[in-house]
Amino acid sequence: MRSDGEPLLALHGVSYRYLDRFPALDDVSLAVAPGEKVALLGANGSGKSTLLKVLDGLVFPDEGVYEAFGAKVTDAHLEDEQFNRGFRSRVGFVFQNSDAQVFSPTVRDEIAFGPLNMGLHRGVVEARVADTLAMLDITDLADRAPYQLSGGQKKRVAIASVLVMNPEVLLFDEPTAALDPRTAQWLMDLIVELNRGGKTIVLATHDLDTLDVLADRCVVFSEDHRIVAEGPSADVLADRELLESVNLIAGRRAGERPCRAI
Ligand SMILES: Nc1ncnc2c1ncn2[C@@H]1O[C@H](COP(=O)(O)OP(=O)(O)OP(=O)(O)O)[C@@H](O)[C@H]1O
Ligand SMILES: [Mg+2]
Repeated sequence: MRSDGEPLLALHGVSYRYLDRFPALDDVSLAVAPGEKVALLGANGSGKSTLLKVLDGLVFPDEGVYEAFGAKVTDAHLEDEQFNRGFRSRVGFVFQNSDAQVFSPTVRDEIAFGPLNMGLHRGVVEARVADTLAMLDITDLADRAPYQLSGGQKKRVAIASVLVMNPEVLLFDEPTAALDPRTAQWLMDLIVELNRGGKTIVLATHDLDTLDVLADRCVVFSEDHRIVAEGPSADVLADRELLESVNLIAGRRAGERPCRAI
């Protein structure tokens, strides 16, 4: 919690449907305190990515309220340039699919895009870009075209384009999905290090094995897009009945046989 006792991010009774038809979030309330690591868990289609989009101001609640840093985040407020800049510099979102996040002709341009957009001086931007490239160990990729990179390399570039803005809150959608074990471990270490450095982390994941490291608290969605449980990661992971009921672990149904070993 902040010194004034307010959470950093807060959702109050948020519901959202895509195209007014497809339910994605139903009466979701959630508070995230500064410095927390929160994991969103739930079956495919339960609403995790949509919640991250709400937290990043990419979609807006049909019902309910989203507040960040003590101010309501609405479509209208984000049209205000000063509010937009403030909010965008404080919250960063690493998408699941890096292809949707990298679009510049070179990696260097990609990473410089956000800071230049913020109106920072070219010299300051160049120094920040160089630092970020080094931090993510991708200096050798600086002049490559992002679309020509491998999935794991693109992920590093996408993360760099977010970290270069030095946001207080980092949102990750399925951070370790589709990464090789070494890269996944590197990213987990990075997330932990960023959190130790004071960043607040909210991530969506199916990878229950990473939760003891990546999350202090887990928030569990049901398949009907509601929050059905939240608590310390160890408690949530120990509740197999809960995990089965929300389709996070497979319970074998009566009469079903295990696969034959090959
Ligand atoms: N662009 C869209 N248009 C219409 N419906 C959508 C769209 N994106 C998501 N949905 C619907 O919203 C619901 C929540 O989707 P969301 O992507 O938030 O789930 P998720 O928990 O992230 O799932 P996954 O684990 O598969 O990533 C789903 O029923 C999905 O079909
Ligand atoms: Mg998702």
